[in-house]
Amino acid sequence: MADRPAKRDFLSITDFSRDEILSTLDVAETLRSGVAGTKPLAGKTLGMIFAKSSTRTRVSFEVGAFELGGHALFLSARDIQLGRGEPIRDTARVLSRYVDGIMIRTYSHEEVEELARFATIPVINGLTDLLHPCQIMADLQTIIENFGPDLGGVKVAWVGDGNNMANSWLNAAYMLGFELRLAYPAGYEPNAEILERARGGGNIITTHDPREAVAGADVVNTDVWASMGQEEEAVERASVFQRYRVDDALLRRASRRAIFLHCLPAHRGEEVTDEVLEGPQSRVFDQAENRLHAQKAVMTVLMSEEGLAR
Ligand code: CP
Ligand code: NVA
Repeated sequence: MADRPAKRDFLSITDFSRDEILSTLDVAETLRSGVAGTKPLAGKTLGMIFAKSSTRTRVSFEVGAFELGGHALFLSARDIQLGRGEPIRDTARVLSRYVDGIMIRTYSHEEVEELARFATIPVINGLTDLLHPCQIMADLQTIIENFGPDLGGVKVAWVGDGNNMANSWLNAAYMLGFELRLAYPAGYEPNAEILERARGGGNIITTHDPREAVAGADVVNTDVWASMGQEEEAVERASVFQRYRVDDALLRRASRRAIFLHCLPAHRGEEVTDEVLEGPQSRVFDQAENRLHAQKAVMTVLMSEEGLAR
């Protein structure tokens, strides 16, 4: 009998090969097109640990698991024993005896790595301070939806904080080879190691000038100036980031076909104007919808019998 392949995790888009990323996006596109499939998660349960708030991630994973024939359990970190100090490694081993996959949203990326090390089932990163790989899959799907499958041919601009989303874009550019221009203020750089690796393998331009990043771009992308956990820095950040607001004038510098993306939730009047968010180039609600399709694809490849891991 052939050995059972080791379980696979999705803590970062770099956990998948380039081909695996593209084939997962293909699955997501099939799901988006509404082709009724089998129920690859029949009889399976996803445990979802949340130490931070969520609308899209929580609802899309829960609905997605249901639509794939499975079940999802919402586990607020405050209400399970993890919140009272039970070690993450014990939580990993206990949950592995009950459920078939774990999705976790928390602060420390290292904590998620430890969870994955001790779990015997797939672990999916639903956002850490470092990365948000599920979001980047939905963002890539939104680019495919608008420009077709040649992801290598698009120019993506990032305007704002060098945060978990900026790091995730760097990883995506590293894996897929598209041009990524990032504009951020001094002192708010992306993760140095991720940036250096992406520079080695990708087509990365960094600047402090949002206009330089956006010039001729096909995708203009931003995120909040203060991420979850940085609430106390919000006032200071609001002043530092004033030049980094995506408004009509900035968007006009992009390619004529450019689309605007934001992972949401957005702070209108801060990182993006109401006009851009509600304007004809905005695809933010398609992007939010794609969280459902992309996550169903990730769960299918990691948790189903036919997927990568099984
Ligand atoms: N974009 C995103 O992850 O949204 P939620 O915080 O609502 O899950
Ligand atoms: N950078 C944001 C993304 C929210 C989906 C945060 O971490 O709060």
